[in-house]
Amino acid sequence: MAKKVLVSGGAGYIGSHVTVELIAAGYDVVVADNMSNCDISGFEGVKKITGREDIPFYEIDCCDFASVDKLFTEHKIDAVIHFAAFKAVGESVSEPIKYYYNNLVSFLNILEVAKKHGGCNVLFSSSATVYGESKVLPVTEQTPRMPAMSPYGNTKTMCEDILRDVVYATSTQDAVIKGIALRYFNPIGAHPSALIGELPRGVPNNLVPYITQTAIGKRECLSIFGNDYPTEDGTCLRDFIDVTDLAKAHVAAVARMFGGKMKKGYEIFNVGTGRPVSVYELVTKFEKVSGVKLNYKFVPRREGDVMALWADPTFANEELGWKAERTVEETLASAWAWEKYLAEKNK
Ligand code: UD1
Repeated sequence: MAKKVLVSGGAGYIGSHVTVELIAAGYDVVVADNMSNCDISGFEGVKKITGREDIPFYEIDCCDFASVDKLFTEHKIDAVIHFAAFKAVGESVSEPIKYYYNNLVSFLNILEVAKKHGGCNVLFSSSATVYGESKVLPVTEQTPRMPAMSPYGNTKTMCEDILRDVVYATSTQDAVIKGIALRYFNPIGAHPSALIGELPRGVPNNLVPYITQTAIGKRECLSIFGNDYPTEDGTCLRDFIDVTDLAKAHVAAVARMFGGKMKKGYEIFNVGTGRPVSVYELVTKFEKVSGVKLNYKFVPRREGDVMALWADPTFANEELGWKAERTVEETLASAWAWEKYLAEKNK
């Protein structure tokens, strides 16, 4: 019988792409989402891509223990991939209680319920934000974490530690929990079908949605935050990872858990390309693949931004047998196709 994977936050940007790849790999998937930061179109897109109308969907908030408990009673869950969290860095600074409450309580509930139902594998969606402004680049999983720059970042560090401690404690108990944290670099792009992609509410905080919305005419002008960094062109360096490549890393991690291949009960992997690309370079690459001349201007640095961050993905490449495959150009083309699809749909 196929293993069953619960994807919490499965209707969102990364969760929907992961659901597609899990189904393609033959897993049974249950999706839970409270729809607080997405609409049903993401899940509809997943059904269209996979041709599966029967994916169980729970509109629940993981902060509600009873709802999560009910889901685990109705399904024998073999692994959870936990995405259900708030992710806007700036908002987390102004609303820390909302962020700490939501991101921590939902994860604690998942762990508590998993334990109550006999234990399972837990994959936590972490972030390269835990490295802060690293002195050493590229960063490996051994690079020390730095104090987070925001409550959002803090919740990622805290959830990693919670998972580590729960794995340690349950290793000698009846209900064992094994854990993997995947530290994402900068996920961008959309599914090649253009049926699912990033759907920011309001003004986008992240670079690529801002670029594509400017190109389509929804935003007037892209502000490039800082061109006076000590980098080659003065703009920040990031490791932009294609969302489908990223989704495949989750499938590889889940297979590692189910295959008994983990070397420790709790493991961490960097999920990046290992290739730094500057913000300005990304803008020019976008202009090339889209054929659109982008309206942009340089403005002062954004508070809290790190100058440069990119991954050493060797550990994931070797241990997960996973590697980022798509080029930045292909990924930007997919983001553009998605923006055009949205424009067409909303006409
Ligand atoms: C941020 C978070 C990261 C989170 C990710 C996805 C931090 C330090 N980073 O990454 O944890 O996982 O978002 O939500 O908290 N830029 C512009 N103009 C724009 C938007 C962005 O120039 O309109 C620049 C930024 O200054 C930055 C780069 O583009 O140098 C990438 O920004 P963004 O997409 O927001 O991601 P990060 O800040 O790297």
